Amino acid sequence: MSSPQILNIGICGFGTVGQGVWKHLSAHLGDLESRLGVKLHLARASVRDLTKKRDVKIPARLLTTDPLAIAKDPSIHIVCELIGGTTLARQVTLAALRRGAIVVSANKALICEHGPEIIAAAQQHGGHFFFEASVAGGIPIIKVLREGLVANRFTRIYGILNGTCNYILTQMEDRNASYAEVLADAKRLGYAEADESLDVDGWDTAHKASVLAWLAHGVWVKTDQMIVEGIAGITPADFKHAATLGYGVKLLAVISRDFVSNELSVRVHPTLLPESNVVANVSGVFNAVSVTGDVVGTTFYSGRGAGQDATASAVISDIADAAALLKHGKGSHLLGEDQGIRGGGCRLTPPERIRSRYYLRLTVQDEPGVLARIATVMAKQKVSIASVLQTPAEQAGAAALVLTTHESNERAIGTTLQQLRALAVVLAEPVLLRIGDFEQ
Ligand code: NAP
Ligand code: HSE
Repeated sequence: MSSPQILNIGICGFGTVGQGVWKHLSAHLGDLESRLGVKLHLARASVRDLTKKRDVKIPARLLTTDPLAIAKDPSIHIVCELIGGTTLARQVTLAALRRGAIVVSANKALICEHGPEIIAAAQQHGGHFFFEASVAGGIPIIKVLREGLVANRFTRIYGILNGTCNYILTQMEDRNASYAEVLADAKRLGYAEADESLDVDGWDTAHKASVLAWLAHGVWVKTDQMIVEGIAGITPADFKHAATLGYGVKLLAVISRDFVSNELSVRVHPTLLPESNVVANVSGVFNAVSVTGDVVGTTFYSGRGAGQDATASAVISDIADAAALLKHGKGSHLLGEDQGIRGGGCRLTPPERIRSRYYLRLTVQDEPGVLARIATVMAKQKVSIASVLQTPAEQAGAAALVLTTHESNERAIGTTLQQLRALAVVLAEPVLLRIGDFEQ
């Protein structure tokens, strides 16, 4: 196949990310072209509503409401799927791959739900699938796992993968701002998903954890095989209690592989991190990823995790890789499609083997004997108490009890929670957070 002289790029979805890609690619076109040795042409873009006002203006003749027409257009070499969701985005992605085109995607939900089908379509039809923008916004974490750290087996990858949640948590902690107010800001700033429950309930982080787990371990882990908890239950009181105990609170994805038992666990939950941990100090829309490999040791990456510019930066890096692939052919790249070999038959860790220390906040009746009843429930499940704090709760006659535990497991703490909920002296839904005693 001779390489084309001009590479035509189609942008399916011209919202926050699509407009960012158009704007920054146009601004840096000459520079990129001379570095890549090819001409790049922004050929077409698709939207749902042609009448919507947009910050980035392009000639009306280049806009269509039919992204599938772009995906199927044989003159388009690189199709960017920046629509979101998993229905139309899947159709667009598969249509482009099935004609052997290159697809660049920022869509972690799509990859998590349909990754195997997409990779199979790329391999079967000679297309390629690039997805740097799908995880951690502007941080090139896909390249890190696929290329930079290719020599390694990964024992632990953890970090903040959702800019919206980190922005909300930071603003709640620093400004004592209300959850609703900060979420509205995150939407206005273009950080949040069209359906913001994907962010705040932990699903977006879970989709990204699934992508990283596949890259690092060659196994597709679905969200129903993970622990997934979001940030909605966290209150300003939890930040205060955590600080008293020497911790910050972050929504983390944690991907752990035990190469002795050959087990893998993938989980997403708000986590207490020691104040000295570098990830605990990453604020606002920034993401942070700590990657521990058996050869390199622990490495750390941070940068903006959401928003137009950071995401456009990642999409444009994929467009550059796609251009280099079209110019030089396969062999010059370690493609994401080849990651399946890392699996090595590993299994998912059963709950009793997922171990952690826990933080438990209970709103209880402020009367004699309550602590003893709670301690009895915990002792029956062999959950050992490490510390207890008691402060007045907002409700009259109630107290907030904050307990931390020694190391236990998910099954024991789950049963403990069920039994605590059933006690008449426990007045509100308990808040359970994991403690991540990660040094770095
Ligand atoms: P967005 O602002 O909502 O843009 C989506 C675009 O797709 C819009 O142009 C919209 O058209 C178009 N579209 C949506 N549904 C359509 C339909 N049924 N038919 C035709 N066009 C349709 O979303 P975004 O924030 O740019 O996100 C796009 C993708 O990037 C998502 O997969 C998201 O998860 C991912 N991502 C986003 C960020 C971020 O910070 N925003 C970061 C990383 C990854 P209209 O404009 O006419 O409504
Ligand atoms: N809604 C996502 C976030 C966009 O806030 O992290 C980036 O993937």
